[in-house]
Amino acid sequence: MLKEKVCIVTGGAQGIGRCIVETFAAEGAKKVYACDMNIDAMADYKERFSTVEAVSLNVCDRDAISAFVEKVKAEDGKIDVLVNNAGITRDGLLDRMSEKDWDMVIDVNLKGVFNMTQFVSPIMIENGAGSIITMSSVVGTDGNIGQTNYAATKAGVIAMTKSWAKEFSRKGAQVRANCVAPGFIKTPMTADLPEKVIAYMESKTPLGHMGEAEDIAQGVLFLASDRARFITGQVLKVDGGLVI
Ligand code: NAI
Repeated sequence: MLKEKVCIVTGGAQGIGRCIVETFAAEGAKKVYACDMNIDAMADYKERFSTVEAVSLNVCDRDAISAFVEKVKAEDGKIDVLVNNAGITRDGLLDRMSEKDWDMVIDVNLKGVFNMTQFVSPIMIENGAGSIITMSSVVGTDGNIGQTNYAATKAGVIAMTKSWAKEFSRKGAQVRANCVAPGFIKTPMTADLPEKVIAYMESKTPLGHMGEAEDIAQGVLFLASDRARFITGQVLKVDGGLVI
């Protein structure tokens, strides 16, 4: 589904991002840049995939992003797909949430998405085509106890995405921007949640269980591919029906 596509996936070392990288490679992408601060966790990519390149990149480092995007442009001449997947949590009830934890989550989950998209989108617009997929969350539409900072970022990326869907197509460019909003997915991010919380969330989910990274990767793959060529400005919930 991704033949000839040059793709960038942030947070590509583990969890959902890793699964997206592997899915894109299996779907025949010409090149997949797996970008993450944790370069050691991506050591296996080189041996397993000739089309995957691991890149040490912090989505908060604008100079590094600029240099990386210039390099991709010089080497590949285009960028077809950007997946803004890198994200962190620093949960806490509002009265106990430190300013540091607020700032950190905003920096990575919201400004990181702004940073990546600001450097990548001009190349897509110049080429007249592209697909940007940003990882939101059901928390971004419905909120969650203890996640003031995280929920703000996941709602923020939806508003950014809708703005980009309007902005990037102004000169007739087929540059699409969409979000995927996962429900509760088994990854290292959710590995430490108490059994009690997991059981409660599963009981609230019509399909009765947590999702797998693969479930999210398939939604992202669809939006990245030309099969979704008339879809822009949308939020695809992949949550087993948790939020209806
Ligand atoms: P994860 O914690 O397993 O993986 C996140 C990856 O992002 C890690 O490899 C980490 O090194 C990388 N990362 C963190 N900060 C970075 C930075 N500044 N620059 C570059 N890379 C950075 O998380 P998971 O579960 O795979 O989540 C992926 C995305 O999906 C996140 O945006 C998360 O908010 C979102 N999501 C996850 C849900 C879940 O249930 N796991 C539910 C809803 C949304």
